[in-house]
Amino acid sequence: MILVTGGAGYIGSTTARYLIEHGEQVVILDSLVSSNIEDVPCRAIFYKGDIADTVKVSEIVKKHNIEACLHFAAYIEVAESVANPYKYFENNMSKALILFNTLKYNGVLKIVFSSTAAVYGEPKYTPIDENHPLNPVNPYGMSKYLAENILSSFDTAYNMRYVALRYFNACGAWGGSGEKHNPETHLIPLILQVPLGKREKLYINGTDYNTKDGTCIRDYIHVYDLACAHYAALNYLRAGGKSEKINLGTGTGFSIKEVIEVCEKVTGQEINKEIRSRRAGDPAVLIASNKKAKDILGWDITYNNLYDIVKSAYLFHKDN
Ligand SMILES: NC(=O)c1ccc[n+]([C@@H]2O[C@H](COP(=O)([O-])OP(=O)(O)OC[C@H]3O[C@@H](n4cnc5c(N)ncnc54)[C@H](O)[C@@H]3O)[C@@H](O)[C@H]2O)c1
Repeated sequence: MILVTGGAGYIGSTTARYLIEHGEQVVILDSLVSSNIEDVPCRAIFYKGDIADTVKVSEIVKKHNIEACLHFAAYIEVAESVANPYKYFENNMSKALILFNTLKYNGVLKIVFSSTAAVYGEPKYTPIDENHPLNPVNPYGMSKYLAENILSSFDTAYNMRYVALRYFNACGAWGGSGEKHNPETHLIPLILQVPLGKREKLYINGTDYNTKDGTCIRDYIHVYDLACAHYAALNYLRAGGKSEKINLGTGTGFSIKEVIEVCEKVTGQEINKEIRSRRAGDPAVLIASNKKAKDILGWDITYNNLYDIVKSAYLFHKDN
């Protein structure tokens, strides 16, 4: 059976659903610190608990004969990590260390880890490939960078094999799972909250970047494609693959203005917006090279059209 930590959250619950659809048996461990019990996929076995609870994790591993762990559980807000770095280093690094050690102690030596494009920091070139220098510029990115390094040391010392998947901007909805972060900080749900009457306007942070229309460009990857990549990474490790760090993005970037235009097309409504000055630490362009994911995992993008991505998110938010 597969242990999914953070499996009540956005990407973890989507991936758990995807695994179950592909015949896997899934055990979820989630403290529900940033999610709700109703977000747990109904066909998964669920434990409410913390990843650092060594007794509980050991019991789960033994009881369910856990073969591998997909580790999603973490805090995810960059701005909060700058204001409260302890919270991020404790949860995303120290508790991950305890989890990895408990898994190792109980013989679970295959890990798929949710990492992030934030490990790269300010890009020196785009598309960003996995050889790009690592220079995280906030505690969130640093906490993931350190967790990746823990895994690398555990591989050397204990033969714990892992795939660290560095996601770019996750978005969209699939199988009843969608973005419900609280507070929401991600662009597509923030935009869609305006026509849905949950937000008065969208703030655009800076229109003076060196991009085609002056707004930041990001790589938006559908959560279904992330779920597929996790399953591919799991099967890669099962087949004896060596540890890897792999980007997950579409390889295509869209500016904030372009995303707003697509949201207007999908919803049929004009989005009320206001331009503000730049936020500190926002790079102008973040686009992934996904060649390594294609070559090593045999994975490819299903959702390569921003309209379809936004539409899946809109249908989810209308119902939730
Ligand atoms: N959303 C994105 O765009 C994005 C981009 C890059 C990387 N990631 C990474 O993907 C992972 C999942 O992100 P998400 O958007 O689904 O976040 P989310 O907040 O929706 O899900 C995280 C889940 O982890 C649980 N959790 C947190 N700390 C825990 C702990 N100590 N013990 C047990 N459960 C705990 C939360 O309750 C929540 O259900 C995170 O590791 C995040 O850093 C997300």
